[in-house]
Amino acid sequence: MKVLVTGGSGFIGTNLLRYILENRSDWSVVNLDLLTYAGNLENTMDLADAYPGRYEFVKGDIADHACVDALFSRHSFDLVLNLAAESHVDRSIEDSGIFVRTNILGVQVLLDAARRHKVGRFLHVSTDEVYGSLGKEGRFREDFHLEPNSPYSASKAAGDLLVRSYVKTHGLDAVVTRCSNNYGPYQFPEKLIPLMVINAFNDRDLPVYGEGRNVRDWIFVDDHCRGIVMVAENGRCGEAYNMGGDAEKENIQIVRLILGNLAKPDSLIRFVTDRPGHDFRYAMDFAKIEAELGWQPEFGFDEGLKKTIAWYLDNQSWWEKILSGTYRHYYERMYGSR
Ligand code: NAD
Ligand code: DAU
Repeated sequence: MKVLVTGGSGFIGTNLLRYILENRSDWSVVNLDLLTYAGNLENTMDLADAYPGRYEFVKGDIADHACVDALFSRHSFDLVLNLAAESHVDRSIEDSGIFVRTNILGVQVLLDAARRHKVGRFLHVSTDEVYGSLGKEGRFREDFHLEPNSPYSASKAAGDLLVRSYVKTHGLDAVVTRCSNNYGPYQFPEKLIPLMVINAFNDRDLPVYGEGRNVRDWIFVDDHCRGIVMVAENGRCGEAYNMGGDAEKENIQIVRLILGNLAKPDSLIRFVTDRPGHDFRYAMDFAKIEAELGWQPEFGFDEGLKKTIAWYLDNQSWWEKILSGTYRHYYERMYGSR
């Protein structure tokens, strides 16, 4: 199997590449990544030596037709796993242009290449945020309307719909996964859990939006990666599959758990101005993937969080390099006067 993973140098992509190379010995993988601020070549440096002949890195833009076409001409891909995206909601509120380019145009360019080069299957990694926001009750099901509320989730929903259109119009064999909030090793420190772990470790304020009562359904990244591979192998063409961690938590609960784990005081918590259009609650009904493919999350939240905190403590140099680079300017803009 020749597989293209896009966005393999980001958080989920890095974990997915490792999962595939360890668990599918007959797959060889090309990682196409633009190395934006969120992509880190260091994450996957060891893979070419660890898996000789089975891993190749290509720097390139999924929205660049010429680059994508040349790559698809060079390799005859059996499977494309599209993870490349602009992924941070707060950045999409600051400036949505790049979200439209990567998350919509990029998907269209990949779909066209997959069609023209007769790729066996295309899997698009989407998100639970395309469904919008829940009240206190209920869980998102795959047959819900898409009601995205942020420029990020709107761009992801547009990508989902493009995939659907290529199935219906061009007969492309494609599937979509929609997953809840991931956490684990290699997550960029702009996202809630790594940001709070690192700030607590450094005795810095923990900026909690609003009153911290918004709810997310947290899934350990390995569970998501296993599900992506299962859907790629056995999901039905044209279908979307939800995944979730069965671990709903208010943000303030997460922050307190992190402080507890690191033996730091609650006085580090700082409530700051809320995120505009902040979705109140996400929760996933994953009965479909459970019934059809036998997938369930395996990691409990306490276990996953402990593993994640341990990874950040053991890999201080990984995040120190990020903190000392251009990310500093983003942090100042986002939190400086909030
Ligand atoms: P991330 O921001 O950590 O990584 C994104 C990767 O894509 C980076 O390596 C970046 O360099 C690369 N990239 C960005 N633009 C590109 C372009 N134009 N061409 C090629 N590469 C490009 O994101 P993540 O958290 O790993 O998310 C991966 C995917 O999973 C995204 O599609 C995201 O929408 C989806 N998702 C994420 C979560 C989550 O909780 N993190 C949950 C559900 C779905
Ligand atoms: O649900 C899946 C989505 O999860 C993915 O599609 C996105 O790519 C991913 O970024 C994530 O989106 P969220 O907006 O839910 O994640 P984030 O880590 O940015 O925020 C989680 C919650 O924590 C959210 O309610 C906002 C809050 N928050 C976040 C940050 C960064 C804070 O209170 N303070 C913060 O500093």
